[in-house]
Parts: sequence; C-alpha cells; structure tokens
Amino acid sequence: MCDALDFNLVDCILLNLAYEFSAFCTSIVAQDSKGHIYHGRNLDYVFGSFLRNLTLDVQFIKNGQIAYTGTTFVGYVGLWTGQSPHKFTVSGDERDKGWWWENMIAALFQRHSPVSWLIRTTLSESENFEAAVYKLAKTPLIADVYYIVGGTSPKEGVVITRNRGGPADIWPLDPLNGAWFRVETNYDHWKPVPKADDRRTPAIKALNATGQANLSLETLFQVTCVTVSSLPRMFGVFSIVIKKNSLK
Ligand SMILES: *[C@@H]1O[C@H](CO)[C@@H](O)[C@H](O)[C@H]1NC(C)=O
Ligand SMILES: *[C@@H]1O[C@H](CO)[C@@H](O)[C@H](O)[C@H]1NC(C)=O
Ligand SMILES: *[C@@H]1O[C@H](CO)[C@@H](O)[C@H](O)[C@H]1NC(C)=O
Repeated sequence: MCDALDFNLVDCILLNLAYEFSAFCTSIVAQDSKGHIYHGRNLDYVFGSFLRNLTLDVQFIKNGQIAYTGTTFVGYVGLWTGQSPHKFTVSGDERDKGWWWENMIAALFQRHSPVSWLIRTTLSESENFEAAVYKLAKTPLIADVYYIVGGTSPKEGVVITRNRGGPADIWPLDPLNGAWFRVETNYDHWKPVPKADDRRTPAIKALNATGQANLSLETLFQVTCVTVSSLPRMFGVFSIVIKKNSLK
C-alpha cells in the first residue's frame, strides 16, 4: 500500500500506529419506535481537519461482490468504522488504559490483534450480529477499546468494553425497559465522565430531546453535531452517520 502511494515505509507505519492509539470518538447505537437500528459515530481526532481530506469510503470486494464497506484514511490498514451489508455495523472508540509499552508487548510478543484490524476481520468473517459481538468481545487485542455494534433486528445494539484479554463489560440496548439508545465516548459507561471532556451528557440530552419516535438518519446526525460542538476546543472534528447500507 505504501509503495502504491509513494509513502516512505517508516512514515506509513508511524501513521498506522498514530491512528491506532489516538481515536477520540463518540458512537451511538439506537432503536426507533418501529424497531429499526441506527448507528452513528464521530471521529474526534486532534488532527481532524487534516484527516478530512484523507478520508475514504472503501468497498472490500470478495468474489465480485461487496463483502463489506468501511470509512477510513489513505494509507491506513485498519478500520474504525464499517458495515457488512444486511448483517451488522461496527465502530471503535479508543479506551485509554494501561501503558503504551504494555500495548507494545501485546503487539510484538503475544501477537494479539490491533484493535482496528479486528474490526476488519470481523466484517470479513462474521455471519451475523451475534457472531460479530462474540468475535469482538473475545479475540485478544493489543490495546483496550470500545466496540459498538449494530444489527438489523430489534434489540441488536451493544457497547462492548474491551480489556486486552477479553470483555470488561457488555452493555446491550434494552428498549423494553426504556434504554432505546447507548452512547459511548472514551470513558467507561458505568463511571462518571471527566468534567473537562464531557461529550456524553450533551449526546444523551440531545437524544432525550429527539425522542425515540423521531429518531432518523437526520436527527441522529444532528445529535452527533451537538456532541461535536461540546468537544474541547483543541479537537478538530468531522461527523459521519451510518445506517445499514447507507452512508452520509
Ligand atoms: C483540504 O482540502 C481543501 C480543498 O482542496 C483545501 O482547501 C484545504 O486546505 C485542505 N485542508 C488541509 C488541512 O489540508
Ligand atoms: C434522559 O432521559 C432519561 C429517561 O427519561 C433520564 O433518566 C435521564 O436523566 C435523561 N438524561 C439527560 C442527560 O437528560
Ligand atoms: C417529532 O416529529 C413530529 C412529526 O415530524 C413533530 O411534529 C414533532 O414536533 C417532533 N417532536 C420533537 C420532540 O421534535
């Protein structure tokens, strides 16, 4: 890939590592009153305005068919956002825990998977929502992460909080008990968010104000924009929303 792009190999590897450990994001999975599942995400990278120009929608082809699609950056091997048509969607949010050298040991000596590569493998291999959740929850990783997964049937939405070795927590939608959405930024959902970076409360407020009956691609997009405007100012930002096969 680096040869084709005429990038220096070292730059290319550094670029891949930088993306791997610096994804500040908000992901939302939600179910409307008719049982449709929506999945949206922001990419809140520090160098957002630069990344905007390097952003691509990619179609991965297998036997002449689109096997899965993703939104990613020029020169980046992994995926943070993807969908397997008519099956499931996945987004990843960084979870900052542990020391970088622990991540390196897991990467180099234990041969664990980079978190963004597991999204690709899952999109490529998992047959349905349940299989995807299982794979994303169990496969050993080189770093902690949050995986947010959306399916195609009612109740198919979950936030997986990952430790390197396995799941720390599984947090599914529970629409029958009023939990018609889940919001994940970069902090464990069962703990309070730091005051200096609270993107969670504005997102929840905006979803509450929208209401389950009014959930749509448009309204979810508006919610992600609210979340963006509450970011600390140093972040450059752009938003995308995905729903099943459509990208906006
Ligand atoms: C992105 O591309 C636009 C249009 O080509 C250009 O005007 C802008 O300066 C670029 N932004 C960065 C950060 O490179
Ligand atoms: C959102 O609505 C739920 C259910 O009514 C409520 O418990 C929660 O406090 C609200 N959250 C915010 C941030 O408004
Ligand atoms: C929900 O949508 C309906 C019809 O489009 C509109 O009349 C209503 O004001 C909306 N409710 C909210 C809370 O935005």
